[in-house]
Amino acid sequence: MHPRQGGVVPIAPLDADTPSLGATPVETFLRPGTLTLGTQPPLSLYVHLPWCLAKCPYCDFNSHAVRDGALPEARYLDALRADLEAALPLVWGRPIVSVFIGGGTPSLFSPAGIERLLSDVRCLLPLVPDCEITLEANPGTFERERFRAFAQAGVTRLSIGVQSFDDEALRRIGRVHDAAQARAAIEEARSAFERFNIDLMYALPGQDLAALQRDLDAALAFEPQHLSIYHLTIEPNTRFALDPPPLPDDDLASAMLDVVTERAERAGLVRYEVSAFARSGRQCLHNLNYWHFGDYLGVGAGAHGKLSFPHRVVRQTRWREPASYLEHALAGRAVSQEHEVARDALAFEFMLNALRLRDGFELALFGQRTGLPLSQIGPALDEAERRGLIGRDLSRVWPTARGFDFLSDLQQLFLPPD
Ligand SMILES: C[S@@+](CC[C@H](N)C(=O)[O-])C[C@H]1O[C@@H](n2cnc3c(N)ncnc32)[C@H](O)[C@@H]1O
Ligand code: SF4
Repeated sequence: MHPRQGGVVPIAPLDADTPSLGATPVETFLRPGTLTLGTQPPLSLYVHLPWCLAKCPYCDFNSHAVRDGALPEARYLDALRADLEAALPLVWGRPIVSVFIGGGTPSLFSPAGIERLLSDVRCLLPLVPDCEITLEANPGTFERERFRAFAQAGVTRLSIGVQSFDDEALRRIGRVHDAAQARAAIEEARSAFERFNIDLMYALPGQDLAALQRDLDAALAFEPQHLSIYHLTIEPNTRFALDPPPLPDDDLASAMLDVVTERAERAGLVRYEVSAFARSGRQCLHNLNYWHFGDYLGVGAGAHGKLSFPHRVVRQTRWREPASYLEHALAGRAVSQEHEVARDALAFEFMLNALRLRDGFELALFGQRTGLPLSQIGPALDEAERRGLIGRDLSRVWPTARGFDFLSDLQQLFLPPD
């Protein structure tokens, strides 16, 4: 999954050499192995709803334009339920600490459909009290009272894909909504939800520093407790990859990030993760669990999951195309790929996530999540410290400001040997 975005999971590269375990009975995951995980990590649930009003030209998510308004909502909800039921033996008895309904554009689903989904989830899985339940919304799907109805259905946090408040910029990146719709959607979210997030992008085609400032001012005027802001990237297999728009150069993009950080922090939003800013106590708990290398069950078309067992960590992927997913999930076979993460890759995957956090991680967490001794990363930590990329004390490791600026160089120090 993607290093960006809410719920859309920062999945690490899979080790293609590790054989697929196929459709696996739970006993296989419980057999002895070379790792020892003393405790199981917190478990989150990710639900993928793969349809959008239109496909944005920069987007490489598993999202598909809905044709002629024909969203197979009821059938897809049946498939999600069957998917969850088939997954139960792998997560038996474990409480769910957060739920993220991501996409695609989940706000295309009706509030009644979301209510049904959440009631299925609650029937099958124990949610912790006050469980954070986020839903992603696109301002193009906004209608009065719709967001309030999602809140009544049990959603506790709304994440709105705004991207920009500039009509011309929105047109250039092929968004289906304009700035007025984005503002109306945020107003509605603000009145219906105690917690909401605004997603923006920067380094947009034709954008300069003044235009970015205007976008930030517009977003911060709504006093959001959480802001996610991503550098627009040109992903392979997108329309922008075939026909790239003129983009700000690297120097300008890096000056933009400085402006974003300075302006957000002045408004009381701390950059707690590379792309995420929040007021104290308002961080996204679901994404924090990914970055702490927690577990997640991922259901829905193309969803990824990571599940820990006493002697191994397993990654799963569901069928990607909505039609194949519907067919396979309804037959109780939603998983298309499954593999055990190789011992060598685990330390890297942990660091790939944990180093995205400003506060880094407790040293003890490394052993708890990977089942590996800390000595596994000792030489790489020494090298990172020597280069000024991390700070550390007896109990924690965190990226320095320089480490944040050169994050991929820092992460690469932890790559497994060839
Ligand atoms: C699944 S989308 C959010 C909900 C909804 N689909 C929407 O776009 O309004 C998650 C976020 O990822 C970000 N994103 C998607 N593609 C991106 C790209 N190529 N570069 C940077 N950010 C991107 C956008 O900010 C988007 O809001
Ligand atoms: S609305 Fe969101 S998920 Fe859908 S195509 Fe656009 S960016 Fe991708």
